[in-house]
Amino acid sequence: MEKTINLDNMLHRSKERIKNLGEVFTPEKYVDEMLGIISEGKKQFWCNEDISFFEPSCGHGNIVLPIIKKRYDAFLVKGKKLKINNPEMYAAANSLNTIWAIDIDTENVRHCRERVFRFLLTEIVNTRKDGCVHKLIENNFDYFSHLLCSVKWQIHENDALSSLANEKIAYKESQKTKMGSDWYRVNDHSPMEFDCSWVDYFRECDKDNLVPIDFERAQQFLVNILEGYSKGQSNFAFTKNILFPIERNNKLPLRGIA
Ligand SMILES: C[S@@+](CC[C@H](N)C(=O)[O-])C[C@H]1O[C@@H](n2cnc3c(N)ncnc32)[C@H](O)[C@@H]1O
Repeated sequence: MEKTINLDNMLHRSKERIKNLGEVFTPEKYVDEMLGIISEGKKQFWCNEDISFFEPSCGHGNIVLPIIKKRYDAFLVKGKKLKINNPEMYAAANSLNTIWAIDIDTENVRHCRERVFRFLLTEIVNTRKDGCVHKLIENNFDYFSHLLCSVKWQIHENDALSSLANEKIAYKESQKTKMGSDWYRVNDHSPMEFDCSWVDYFRECDKDNLVPIDFERAQQFLVNILEGYSKGQSNFAFTKNILFPIERNNKLPLRGIA
């Protein structure tokens, strides 16, 4: 059995990772203070779709998750006020589509995605009355396929040093840290494209009558989940501890991450 850790309370993983990655996670109290400072005196700040957030070294999501939560709550209120159909789905989609988060470490990215996905899915499930998670996914199949793709697209592995630099200086920037230079050697320059969210990308493909490969994979993966087996999970590893227990008891595990 895998070791169970609670990501919500974890502030560091090991001395080695602190040394190699500078990995110390920000405690909730300081995140709350920071988010209070940036939004102070700004009405409708959290439900403004024109505002996007970028977390250049997101770790396992101690800053990303509170942003997503605040945005979700604010978009939900806005959605209800505007009488939008399924305001919880609108709120989840908009919270995701207005955040960018990267980290150089694969495990951190997976955990960050997992926490965000768990939160959004839980909120949606708790608001809706579809009876069970299977029914909810079945009844909103395309929506959940997009949700999976969007989590992957908006929160991904990248090097903050080179991805924010132009092509000419990207290599030089990546050499500033050992992690950065190691990452660049394997992955090359992958510039951040803030004007191309998952929704933008999907629409661009759609205009050309194309379907993104990840969208097809997400659909197939959800079909498999609904049919009771976990094939295709490697593409959506962040769902492992959330969707697979559904097979057994048809309930979302709300706490505890293996
Ligand atoms: C101090 S932790 C902060 C994590 C998170 N922002 C928080 O406040 O909890 C630093 C993070 O930076 C990541 N990191 C280190 N070098 C990086 C790089 N070149 N590009 C992107 N992320 C990097 C590490 O993996 C680690 O998760």
